[in-house]
Amino acid sequence: MMPAARVRLKRAKGRTRSSAAWLTRQLNDPYVAAAKRLGYRCRAAFKLIEIDDRLRLLKPGCRVVDLGCSPGGWTEVAALRAAAAQGRGLVVGIDLVETEPVPGATLLRGDFRDPATAAAIKEALGSRADLVLSDMAARATGHRRTDQLRALALAEDAFLFAQEVLEPGGSFVVKVFQGGAEGPLLAQLKRAFVELRHVKPRASRAGSAETYLVAKGFRGSS
Ligand SMILES: C[S@@+](CC[C@H](N)C(=O)[O-])C[C@H]1O[C@@H](n2cnc3c(N)ncnc32)[C@H](O)[C@@H]1O
Repeated sequence: MMPAARVRLKRAKGRTRSSAAWLTRQLNDPYVAAAKRLGYRCRAAFKLIEIDDRLRLLKPGCRVVDLGCSPGGWTEVAALRAAAAQGRGLVVGIDLVETEPVPGATLLRGDFRDPATAAAIKEALGSRADLVLSDMAARATGHRRTDQLRALALAEDAFLFAQEVLEPGGSFVVKVFQGGAEGPLLAQLKRAFVELRHVKPRASRAGSAETYLVAKGFRGSS
């Protein structure tokens, strides 16, 4: 992606230093510009596009669960590539906050760890899923170790849920934060899936510790 001329904010008047820094970053972010140009609702869409272009997870007709789907960039990509709006594939998204409608996707609101919400996801799915995505992030506390542990707990819960709904042969994508003691999770993923890859998409900000684990070939729940 070609870098455009850099925009500088002349004054940060009325803004805190961190919101001015955020705005400057947004204005200079080629993925924000590309998302606008191509009609995706957020730059996060490009992370899934890159993961899928490399590892071929989404196919027309596939059934997808998108955990932590709001604002809906990944859901848009999944619905498009699964041909959900054409009634071929199926995408079920869930988030703690409301997600604006995405053509072809069923969007739910709640915590996927709540048994009633988990049951609603399974009902919307109707049968097993080919792919479970988790780009979930817990609200940051500012305390590094606490945030790492929370992120890891969320990834582990996503993995437990994926095992309940995945079709044998299915795939699982989960965001983790490097340095988050993800060792035991890696070992469990290696046992449960035939193949495990680490992917840091270019659209993932270089300074961010986030990275994605992509597990393919689910061996089936025992
Ligand atoms: C980085 S955003 C996801 C962005 C999304 N992939 C996209 O492309 O638009 C992370 C989301 O995870 C959601 N989340 C965090 N914990 C959750 C939980 N327990 N259940 C459902 N959603 C959760 C947050 O509300 C937040 O909207």
